[in-house]
Amino acid sequence: MPALVLLGAQWGDEGKGKATDLLGGSVDYVVRYQGGNNAGHTVVVGDQKYALHLLPSGILSPGCTPVIGNGVVVDPSVLLSELSGLNERGVDTSKLLISGNAHIITPYNVTVDKVTERFLGKRKIGTTGRGIGPTYADKINRVGIRVQDLYDESILTQKVEAALDVKNQILTKLYNRRAIAVDQVVEELLVYADKLAPYVADTVLVLNQALENDKVVLFEGGQGTLLDIDHGTYPFVTSSNPTAGGACTGAGVGPTKISRVIGILKAYTTRVGAGPFPTELFDEDGEALRRIGGEKGVTTGRDRRCGWFDAVIARYATRVNGLTDFFLTKLDVLTGWEQIPVCVAYEIDGKRVEELPYSQTDFHHAKPVYEMLPGWSEDISKAKSFSDLPKNAQDYAKALEEMSGAPISAIGVGPGRNETIEINSFI
Ligand code: GDP
Ligand code: IMO
Ligand code: MG
Repeated sequence: MPALVLLGAQWGDEGKGKATDLLGGSVDYVVRYQGGNNAGHTVVVGDQKYALHLLPSGILSPGCTPVIGNGVVVDPSVLLSELSGLNERGVDTSKLLISGNAHIITPYNVTVDKVTERFLGKRKIGTTGRGIGPTYADKINRVGIRVQDLYDESILTQKVEAALDVKNQILTKLYNRRAIAVDQVVEELLVYADKLAPYVADTVLVLNQALENDKVVLFEGGQGTLLDIDHGTYPFVTSSNPTAGGACTGAGVGPTKISRVIGILKAYTTRVGAGPFPTELFDEDGEALRRIGGEKGVTTGRDRRCGWFDAVIARYATRVNGLTDFFLTKLDVLTGWEQIPVCVAYEIDGKRVEELPYSQTDFHHAKPVYEMLPGWSEDISKAKSFSDLPKNAQDYAKALEEMSGAPISAIGVGPGRNETIEINSFI
C-alpha cells in the first residue's frame, strides 16, 4: 500500500490538517501537490496548536519527510516565515524538500489578485488574496517563475521581464496602478535563493524512488473537491486541482501507484468566499454550527458560511476522486440537536435530482431535499471506538456512509490527534 491521497470532499476546511497529522507518524513522506498558502490547516498536538499554510501537515511528525511538489505555488516569504515560526517552537524542518519546478508566487501576482477582485466588484470570487489564481495563470500562459529560476539571475531577469511586459500595461492603463519595476522584483526574489537552496530537490525522482523502495507516501490535498478548477463550482473555485488526479500531475507520480484515496468529510458543510451552497443556513442553526465548530478561516479570518450535510456533494466527491474511504470529521459539533437535517437530493425547478447537476444554472437553482435524522445529547468527545458512540450518533454516521458511497474509516470527535475513532486502519 505505497501511496495514499488525502483530500477535501467538500469546499475545504474539512479537517485535512488533523487527518494528515494523525497519519504522519506512520508514513515516510507527506506531499502537498497543489494550491499554496491559500490553505489553512490547523493541527492540534497536545496543548499546542499549529496553523500551517504551505508546509505539509506531516512536518510535525519527526520521522516524516515533508515535500512541496511541482504542482504547488510557493510564496517564498510565507514559506520562510512559516519555517522560522516552527523552528522557534522547536519543530525540526530540515528534512523539507521543495520541487525546483514549483512556481513562485511573486509580489506582482499578489497585487494582480487583489486588484482583479476589487474590479470584479459584486461578482468577485472572494479569493484569499494570496496571488494563487494569477500565479497559476502565469504558469499556464508560460510566463511563470519557477523555484529553479532563482539560481540563474540572467534567466530570472528575462522571465520577470516577460511576465511584467503585459501586466504593467494592464496595471497602469486599466487599473490605474503604478508599473512594477523588473529590477526590484528580481532583487527581492534573489534574496530567497540562498535561503531556499538547502531544500530544493528533484522531488519527482525522490518520490518515485521512495515508492520503488516500498516507502509510504501520503499526498495531502489543499482546498477541496468542490473548489477544483475542473470539477468544482466554477467560477467560484480555486485555480488548481485538489481532486485525486491532481496528486499525479502535481507530484509526478503515476496513477497506478495510488492505492487509497481518503476523502475528508465534515459532518456538516462549510464554505468560505462566494458561490452557490444549497444547504447554507441563515438562521440560528447556522450561527450555532459556526460557534460550536469554530468556523472561522485560518488564512483570512473570515467567518465560514455554514449549512447541513449534503449527501449529493459527498456522492459526487466519491465519484470524481474514486474515493476508497471517508474520514468523517467534527461529529462532536452536532451534539445537542434533537433532529439533524441531511440533504439527500435537490429540487431543481420542481424536479427531484439525485446527483450534482453539471449545469451551473441548475446548481444555482438547487434547493435541498432534507431527511431528518435523530440527534443525540451525550458528550462524544471521549469516544474511542464506534461502539462508544450513542446509538443515534452511530446511525447518523452509518446513514452518511450509505448515502455517500464509500466506507467511513475514521471519525473525528475533537480537534486533537487522539480525538479520533479509528474504524479501519488506513495503512
Ligand atoms: P483543513 O483546511 O481541512 O485542514 O481544516 P481547517 O484546519 O481549516 O479547519 C478544521 C478545523 O476543525 C480546525 O480548527 C481543526 O482543529 C478542527 N477539527 C478537525 N477535526 C475535528 C473534529 O473532529 N472535531 C472538532 N471539534 N474539531 C475538529
Ligand atoms: P484549505 O486547504 C476553504 C476558497 C476561497 C475562494 C476560492 C478561491 O484550508 O481547505 P483562491 O485564493 O484559492 O484563489 O480563492 O477558494 N479557498 C478556500 N476555502 N479552504 C481553503 O483551503 C481554501 N483555499 C481557497 O475562499 O472562495
Ligand atoms: Mg483550512
